[in-house]
Parts: sequence; C-alpha cells; structure tokens
Amino acid sequence: MLPTRSGRYMVGLAPRGAGLVAVGWGPDGGAAAVPVAATSSFEADLDLLPLEATALGTRNVHGAELVVRGADGLRGARLVLSGEVVLAQDDDGATHLVCPLADDVLGIGVRLHLRTHPGHDVVEKWAELYNASEQPIELLRAWGGAFAIPARGGASVGLLGGAWSREFTPFDVTLGAGTLSVGSRQGITSHTYAPVVTVVPAGTDGVVRSGGADVGVRYGVALGYSGSWRMTLDAVPFADHVRVAAGPDDESGILTLAPGERLTTPVLAGVRVEGDADDLAHAWHEYQAMLARTRGPEHRPVVYNSWFATTFDVRVEHQLQLAAAAAQVGAEVFVVDDGWFRGRTSDRAALGDWEVDLHRNPDGLGPLADGVRALGMRFGLWVEPEAVSPDSDLYRAHPEWAHQVAGRPLETLRNQYVLNLGRPEVEEWVLGTLRRLLGDGDVTYLKWDMNRSIADGGQSVLGGDDWSWRHTRAYYRILDALRAEFPRVTVEACAGGGGRIDLAVLARTDVVWPSDETGPRDRLAIQHGFLGALPAWTMSSWVTDLPDLLDRDREGAPTSLEFRFVVAMAGVLGIGADLLAWDAATRERASSLVDLYRSIRTVVHTGRVRRHGTPSDAACAVQYTGADAVVVLAWRRTGAADLTVRLRDLDPDARYRLRGDDVGTSTFTGRELITDGIAIGWTWEDCAVMILDRV
Ligand code: DGJ
Repeated sequence: MLPTRSGRYMVGLAPRGAGLVAVGWGPDGGAAAVPVAATSSFEADLDLLPLEATALGTRNVHGAELVVRGADGLRGARLVLSGEVVLAQDDDGATHLVCPLADDVLGIGVRLHLRTHPGHDVVEKWAELYNASEQPIELLRAWGGAFAIPARGGASVGLLGGAWSREFTPFDVTLGAGTLSVGSRQGITSHTYAPVVTVVPAGTDGVVRSGGADVGVRYGVALGYSGSWRMTLDAVPFADHVRVAAGPDDESGILTLAPGERLTTPVLAGVRVEGDADDLAHAWHEYQAMLARTRGPEHRPVVYNSWFATTFDVRVEHQLQLAAAAAQVGAEVFVVDDGWFRGRTSDRAALGDWEVDLHRNPDGLGPLADGVRALGMRFGLWVEPEAVSPDSDLYRAHPEWAHQVAGRPLETLRNQYVLNLGRPEVEEWVLGTLRRLLGDGDVTYLKWDMNRSIADGGQSVLGGDDWSWRHTRAYYRILDALRAEFPRVTVEACAGGGGRIDLAVLARTDVVWPSDETGPRDRLAIQHGFLGALPAWTMSSWVTDLPDLLDRDREGAPTSLEFRFVVAMAGVLGIGADLLAWDAATRERASSLVDLYRSIRTVVHTGRVRRHGTPSDAACAVQYTGADAVVVLAWRRTGAADLTVRLRDLDPDARYRLRGDDVGTSTFTGRELITDGIAIGWTWEDCAVMILDRV
C-alpha cells in the first residue's frame, strides 16, 4: 500500500511470480481495475490482469512496456520475481516500493519502482534495467510501467497539443476500443503534443458517489522525459481498464544495454481525482510544486526581454536605454535575447560562436550588465546551446558535431543544425561554454532556447540508434550541473515557444515559455490549456504590442495595455514590448500595473487555480485561492455581457472583503461567493483584477 496525500495506491503480487498487479487506487483504495475472470480456455489469468509492467513474452493482452531483444536476435522475456519486494520510506517522507524481476535466460534484471508522497496525490513509476549477460541486449521499448485505469467500455481522452504558436490546445478523443498513440519523433517533446493526458472513464466508471452526490472521476498521466517520446492508451474490447504507458519513443530509436550496463527509464506519473478538470490540474500543480521545492520566488522575477524590441540588432547603448525604461516600469531582470554574440546579425549565422560581438559592441556586454545592475535589476542572457549555424566558426571546426543520419546530407531548419549532445566532447563543450558565460557572476538569468526539432536525427554517427536518449540525458546533466554550480541563476526553458515542456524540464528549470504567440486573445487560450496540467508559477507571459496571430474574431478582440497586462498577470509576468515606443503616460500605467501584479504575485503563484469558462466564451476568468486572499482575473470580448463568477475552494463560513473597498460594504461570506457568485467589476473596459482578502 502506497499512501498519497488523500488516498492510496495498492498493488499485489501477480500469480506465478509475474510481478505486480494494481489492486486499488483512491481515497479508500477501492477503485481498481477488477480483472475480468478468464471466461474460456482461450484466456489465461495473466492475459487480463492489470499488471504494473509487462514484457513482450509475458502473457498479457494489454500491450508491453518492455520489449527486449537478445544477441540471438529473438525478442521477448518472461519476467519473474527474483527477490523480495521492498516497501520503504525515503528521506523526504515518500513511500517507495521496489520489485525485482528477472529473466535468467536472457540475463536481464528489472527493478520496478513505485513512489508516492504524503504531499501530493501523484503515483510515480519507473524501472531500472540491468544487463547481467555477456552480450548486448537491445531495448526495443524501455518504458517504466503503466497505469491500468478502471474503465469498462473505454474512455474519453484529453490531449494538449497544437503547433508553433498554438501550443496547449485541448483535443478530446473518444477511445471505445483500440490503441491511441501520441508522441514526438523530433528529439524534443514538440509543439504537437505535450506528454500529458487526461482520461475520463466511460459510463459508471467515471462516476463515484461521494458525500451524497455523484462525483466525476478523472485520471491524469504524464511523462517526465524531454526527448522523442511515445504514449499509448490501450482499450481492449470488454476489458475492465484502459492501459496508459509511455516512455522514450520506440518507433524512432532503440536503446542498447551493454553487458553490465544499467538504465533507468523516465518517470511515468499518474494521478486520480474525484472532481473536475481543475481538480485534476490542482493535483498536478501540487506535485509540480514538490519537483521545484528548493527554488524560491526570486526565480520567478518580472522579466524585461528585449527580443521583440531589437531582434538581432543588439547595441549596448540602445539596450541601456531600454533597460532604463524597463527599470522605470518595474522589471526585476533585464534579458538580452538572441543577437548579442559574434556575427549574429540575423538568424542565418553564428549559432555556436558564443562570444560577445566586439565588432558591434567594442567594450563587450560588461557596461550593459553594470548599467542594468545600477538600475536595480539582474542581468540575463539568451542562449541556444544545442544549436549550430552552418555559417559559424564552431561548425567549420566541427562539422561532425551536428546531428545527422549517417552519410545523408544535412538539412537546415531556421538556417541551423542541432549539436549532438550525445557525443561526450559536445556535452563537455556546451557545459564549458555555459560555465564561461556564467562564471563571472554578471548573468543571473539564462534563457535556454532550442529552435530546431531533430525529426531527421535518425541514426547517431556514433553508431547505435539512441541519439535522442543520449542527447536528452546530456541535456539533463548540463542543467543539473548548472543548477548545482550556479544556484543563483534562474533558468527559463524555451523551445521556439512551448516545444519542450514536461515534468523533467519543470524539475530542472524555473520558468518555461509556453509559446511565441503573445497576442493577448491567443495567449489566453494557450494559457488556459497550459494551466490545465502545468503550474502558474512557471508560466512565463510577456506584454508585447503584437496582435493575435490566430484569433479570427478580431472584432471582439480587445488589445488595451491593461488587457494585455492582466493576461500576463495570470502567470509569471514579463514585458517584451519596445518600451522606447511607449510614451511617458503609457509607462506610468505600465508601472502601476506591475505594482498591482507584485501585490498579487504570491497568490497567483501559490494559490489554487480555478478556470471559470474558457477564452472562447464571451467572458471568462481565472481564480487563484491562497490562504489569506483570493485573486480573480477576468477578460471579456468588447461588448460582451457582464459576468458573474461562482467562486470555488473558499471556506463557506469565512468572510472576504473586496480590496479597494475602504468603506467595507463589499464584504461577503464564502457561502455567498460560492452560491451567488461575485459580479465581475470591470476594472478596465474588458478586463478585471479583483482581490478578496479573508478577514
Ligand atoms: C524563439 C524564442 O521562442 C523567442 O522568444 C526568441 O528567443 C527567438 N527564438 C530568438 O531567436
């Protein structure tokens, strides 16, 4: 039994030593996939069981998380218990179960890990594989386990995905029978799908009776892996569960275990909630808070980023002017984006040549860093450490460092290639480069970008077929080393927007850039999807002057400064506009909006998130509930009707006073706010910031 914050996850021993079987999940541990008994001589007991992990070669009709091939070319393994199952307590209070399995014929050992923590409701699963033979073993699929989600008759599956500038768009798929497969072959998680799904069981499996009412049950499954990945959801006809499994993409890469070698799979995380989509989001957010638990609020500062203001034209004098304006509006960090390094005057050259461009800035960036600090801000820099331009000294010196399918011509995308971090000398060079850039302490904010997917990565020139795995492991090692050596440095993860965001990235970075789309209505939609699975305190969001790229309904698309600020306040507010184009009055207004954001920031970043309506509605809101205050941000299309929001998550007996109401007439009980709701008082024409203090 593994206790979670509000329930437990239970496993038992499968018959005939076949490992672990899921037997319960929920507040009373009762909800579980109850295996359908074998009904004919055509089915064996193991065929139908919700095993925690199965290998091809072990009887089960629900798919296999491990597919191995020995040196004899034969696939398959029969994993059986090879020792004691150990249930222990980790130092951080987590309950940790380890189940050792082995196939002695092949010589492979597999230790299944399950872990839960009293601070959240997520169950983590992963596997350690060990080659005890004298021959290499190919891992055609190396996934860490699966979740058997009780669901007779299939389920409704919620995906988050899209494309560049349309990330985190929700899609719903009805899965009655068959296998749904989503993933990425691009070496990054990709803009196409985020590695997280929601599963709502069909029919009565999706409902429980709780407190005299019927409550919906939903599950989330997410993968902590940032390279090419795959997730399958398998609904076998007449089975009692949908099996969800995920790991490194097995369609585009094969891992190999040398004799004596070990490999630990990425973590597969699953969570069950009785409630709605925001209850599920909250369960994810609680877990993600623990992934990032050692990092303080100083790592979520108000950023000014000069990209949209200057693109590649980075001149210190001009940047200093922008910095002065950024300080005036209240920025806490000034980040110089792309264009600061030698020869980078467009996107056609110079990636890899990470030295200050002395031709354009003869005194280097020191005067800028000093100036920024003198203005009371931290100094930050953009890098794209994995990238290399064909027109760069780095590429000319090391053409063999770029990812390529051996022997085939290279193709550029955004005029660039990607360095193969899987080569030890490349990993060392990238880490050395970043150490050099951070070494003198000037830079305390690093935006790590990645603008070329590696869909054509193919076979590594090193031999073997595991380029994405090697690349991704090296990416983690570099991030881990930076965090250990430069704990004061805030790292923002970006991949042409939201092309690489997953639990493993969240565990190693501070904020993420969900999308390059900063048009306010499109951004609202992206943020709505993001908050359904990812936390507000990582959701970097800038105010710019750019219009929506996609929102077709321009008629009703407000773009006032206030509207854009309130959109950005929903996460980690930043500014990316050309501040020198703003007049003094606009900067004044911006400065008071930043002050307002600062006054609600803690609640936005640590409060419980509830989304009221969606951005495609005429009006919608997001509520953040902290211990002492509630913040409601609201937006509407121009001319849309008023909005009343029935608040959630409040103490019905507590009293809440609307901030700014000095005479105290707007005091409500929690019960009133829950039952009758609160009429949104539009602070500005089409948007609102309402703060209710608990009194
Ligand atoms: C893509 C990023 O998403 C942008 O914010 C910006 O940093 C550009 N790259 C710079 O090339």
